[in-house]
Amino acid sequence: MLIENIVNTIYEKGYSITQDFVSSKIIDDLLIEFEKQKLNLREANIGKNENKLLAKEIRSDKIVWLERTTELSNLFFSSLDELIIQLNRRCFLGVNDFEFHFACYETGTFYKRHKDAFTNDAARKISVILYLNKSWQASHGGELMIYTKDSEIKVEPKAGTLVVFESILEHEVLLSNATRISLTGWLKRG
Ligand code: OGA
Ligand code: NI
Repeated sequence: MLIENIVNTIYEKGYSITQDFVSSKIIDDLLIEFEKQKLNLREANIGKNENKLLAKEIRSDKIVWLERTTELSNLFFSSLDELIIQLNRRCFLGVNDFEFHFACYETGTFYKRHKDAFTNDAARKISVILYLNKSWQASHGGELMIYTKDSEIKVEPKAGTLVVFESILEHEVLLSNATRISLTGWLKRG
């Protein structure tokens, strides 16, 4: 039912925001996995653009890609299967693949307004973000802004909130005043 609601909302509006999508147990397990992978965090780039200085002016988060074989697959990825099935049925997206990374925004970092499709990878159809920040405060900033034809939506990156949106939508991560962790990925047509 929950997934059905998400898919209906995406079909109608292009995006969906769900609080408490996963249990706090899953959040904790994902944070443990993040801690294990922390040493492998690398500065994120911006698609094919090799200019590192330019990239830093656009985004300053660090990421670590997830291996499909991590235990994580069983936790969060299994709930994605149903999402993919229903999205394909309702929105004819032909999604047959996905990729995920942890993203870490340290204090003072951001990601300027951009689209996920066409810059990095035209195969990206749907962006999916699960936030993992357990004691997030409004004063920490770091909101996700989603820009549609007729509205601007602001999302606080609180633990358990799941955001799913069409990768052609413009969006932005506002300056973060605290460490901001998420599991971010894309449903793709390979
Ligand atoms: C991205 C992105 C948004 C967020 O990684 O492309 O826009 O809220 N992330 O973390
Ligand atoms: Ni993005």
